[in-house]
Amino acid sequence: MRSGRLAVSSLLLVVLSLVVATPVLAADEVVVYSARHYGQEPAFDAFTKQTGIAVRVLTGDAGALFERLKAEGDRSPADVLLTVDAGNLWNAARAGLLSPATSAMLSANVPAHLRDPENRWVGLTMRARTIMYNPKKVTPAELSTYEALGDPKWKGRLCLRSSSYIYNQSLVATFIKRHGPARTEEILKGWVANQPTIINGDTKILEAIAAGQCDVGITNTYYLARMLAKDPDVPVRPFFANQQTTGTHVNVSGAGVTAHARNRAAAIRFLEYLSSVEAQQMFANVSMEYPVNPKAETHPIVRGWGTFRQDDINVAAAGELQADATRLSDRAGYK
Ligand SMILES: [Fe+2]
Repeated sequence: MRSGRLAVSSLLLVVLSLVVATPVLAADEVVVYSARHYGQEPAFDAFTKQTGIAVRVLTGDAGALFERLKAEGDRSPADVLLTVDAGNLWNAARAGLLSPATSAMLSANVPAHLRDPENRWVGLTMRARTIMYNPKKVTPAELSTYEALGDPKWKGRLCLRSSSYIYNQSLVATFIKRHGPARTEEILKGWVANQPTIINGDTKILEAIAAGQCDVGITNTYYLARMLAKDPDVPVRPFFANQQTTGTHVNVSGAGVTAHARNRAAAIRFLEYLSSVEAQQMFANVSMEYPVNPKAETHPIVRGWGTFRQDDINVAAAGELQADATRLSDRAGYK
């Protein structure tokens, strides 16, 4: 290091001055880099009230926070990375940005398929990505599986988000895990043959279904719950796909302790609190996602849809097969 300092460049001087300028953080604070944009504040506030540990949040989109953590390296002030989609969590873990945090409480509160087998991240809320339909135009009896949306009867009636969006990359990745690449390509080709309208936004897809622009689509459930909370007459309902076969695709938003966390113990305590029934209830009530902790209850609107069988393969598959999902989608012509 000493000889390196003799040859210090102006760029390195800038970096060093940033290190010096970084304030020493109090141990009673958890710094969270968060790509979640909804429904977390009440749980964070309750954690601070209960423990005296302050929560400082820096929000940004998942990609930007990932790059920031990577660039900051061991100078990062972040203790926790909180983001949506297991694919993003998996990518962060693979890049070495997260560190394993074993906790009996997390293992007890969060089902095994919704957390990293190596304990580098844990799901904190669950979402089902399933078929949505307009009940004025479609009866549930006409619906069955994701694959069946490739039936010619849906030609010109299907709205999908683009294949490049992570929610769909993860969905396709779990298809590959379940059905293998050849069958997955057939499924996607079936959708493409029905000339789907590509709409970039889950809420926009639901609005298009309500407006009669399409009759069926695939979105996350909480977006519909929020629309129905504002207007119960919106003509869109969820259909839980693949109940007789593989189960409905689920994903998580979740978090992990960063590789260079300064307040590691507080960070683990924070994640443990977020998995507790009390915090899970807040997530469920505010963001209208499914709690990961089965002891917490879903929001009344969500409960009204009934229970469903989840695809219980580990959500880590979303990351493991993400590149394959992108390649297959391209090959099938799914934009
Ligand atoms: Fe979302």
